[in-house]
Amino acid sequence: MPNPDEPARKPEEFTLSEPRTAQEWESYFDLRWRVLREPWGQPRGTERDDLDAESFHLILRDSAGAVVAVGRLHLNSPSEAQVRYMAVDESHRGRGLGSRILSGLEDRARSERVTGVVLNARDNTIQFYRRHGYCVEGPADILFGEVRHFRMRKDLSP
Ligand SMILES: CC(C)(COP(=O)(O)OP(=O)(O)OC[C@H]1O[C@@H](n2cnc3c(N)ncnc32)[C@H](O)[C@@H]1OP(=O)(O)O)[C@@H](O)C(=O)NCCC(=O)NCCS
Repeated sequence: MPNPDEPARKPEEFTLSEPRTAQEWESYFDLRWRVLREPWGQPRGTERDDLDAESFHLILRDSAGAVVAVGRLHLNSPSEAQVRYMAVDESHRGRGLGSRILSGLEDRARSERVTGVVLNARDNTIQFYRRHGYCVEGPADILFGEVRHFRMRKDLSP
């Protein structure tokens, strides 16, 4: 039972921002690599691509400043944006942080006046994206010979 004499512990706060400092960029790419590449034995560097320089990036930091969730948005055309590299630190999953990153990326997509957002979802994350209004359009690439992806799309209302 909670002790009525003890003040209720405040829920941990997380700060959403674009990565700005060299340390934040390093932590951003490190989390991408640890979540999306390292488990498949992929070397550092494989977590980056040529579109990073022109993309919009978001990070969530915990109260100590550690980067615990990340995601990226780039434009495929003036009317279509694409989400990539969604990653939440394993110990922070299921607490709404991935949702906050995705919503922030969609806000940016709306401000770019695109009509839809697409992404290639790993098969075990389809449910997460469905909850956010994305629909499966069909199979996409298979990464590292085993990670099956599905193309998903969400139409943005004007
Ligand atoms: C997928 C991922 C980004 C989701 O982030 P998260 O912070 O764990 O998700 P949230 O807590 O915001 O979840 C929002 C909802 O989706 C559900 N959900 C999250 N991940 C899910 C999953 N893998 N399968 C089914 N449902 C999931 C949650 O239960 C939650 O539902 P609720 O609103 O009813 O409680 C994160 O789990 C992750 O980094 N996974 C590993 C890397 C990865 O696969 N990235 C995506 C590449 S396409």
